[in-house]
Amino acid sequence: MITLRETNIAYHSETVSLPQNVFARDLSFTVPRGEFLGLCGGNGAGKSTLLKLIANLLPSYQGTITIDGLDLNQPENARKIRRKIGYLFQNPDNQIITTTVEDEIVFGLENYGFSVAEIDSRLNEALILADLTYKRKDDPTALSDGEKQKLLFAAILAMDPDILLLDEPTSMLDLLSAKRFLCLLPALRERRKTILLVTHRMEELMGCDRIAYLEKGEITLFKSPADFFRSISPEKVEITPWIQYLMRRFHPEGRDSGVPLGTPEEVYERYDRL
Ligand SMILES: Nc1ncnc2c1ncn2[C@@H]1O[C@H](COP(=O)(O)OP(=O)(O)OP(=O)(O)O)[C@@H](O)[C@H]1O
Ligand SMILES: [Mg+2]
Repeated sequence: MITLRETNIAYHSETVSLPQNVFARDLSFTVPRGEFLGLCGGNGAGKSTLLKLIANLLPSYQGTITIDGLDLNQPENARKIRRKIGYLFQNPDNQIITTTVEDEIVFGLENYGFSVAEIDSRLNEALILADLTYKRKDDPTALSDGEKQKLLFAAILAMDPDILLLDEPTSMLDLLSAKRFLCLLPALRERRKTILLVTHRMEELMGCDRIAYLEKGEITLFKSPADFFRSISPEKVEITPWIQYLMRRFHPEGRDSGVPLGTPEEVYERYDRL
């Protein structure tokens, strides 16, 4: 379970004066164990910042954050919390730390003292999952961006963490790989993993329990995808034909009541005028 109470985040910037540099104020919410929470919002809304905060990677914040009851602010909890969390960075280049594909997967496992046999079995499974068995001896920095993303995700799964913080995990994947990735999430949810998924692809949110919309460091929580697509204003999400379908599908005055929300062209035109 992840709990934030009255949390303020401030970025220190030489060009911004003090009161404005508080980026998020009074964030308070709980993500219970086993919840699949979708996070969306425009560029700069604070999605990555929120994940970094929960992953204990931001130097300072105000308020209280607990992970399974462990206070993030207490240095003695750091190792325990790190073991619980698997965090996939938005930019995979920032996350690669070793010199072979194999080592990238093995690194975390060795740190946590798994047996040689267990490491071997998890390594092989992860290589298959990432489709990288034939590149196991290669330099991970030489992989394509999508391959890097798959490798790092597989390396996280090999660790079997309780909490998965996934920052745009499909942004560089081809559509088939993205679908394969999405198919894994329900299985993880069945195993009571807590998942926070940041995405700009609205269709990926359909399987979530709740959806959080971020804007200027403020968070709005919707109790289901239906609630989100019913309530969110069209200016706040990118209106692709697929989203239009979802909005029609869930809008109280949408398809079922016979009130059209417009053709895709009309919706795009409205979008262009914003
Ligand atoms: N290290 C930093 N120092 C100062 N400001 C920062 C820092 N990191 C992020 N910010 C600012 O915080 C805001 C939120 O950034 P963040 O990366 O969390 O957005 P995001 O919602 O993930 O956006 P995107 O969709 O582009 O990934 C931005 O305005 C950004 O400029
Ligand atoms: Mg981001």
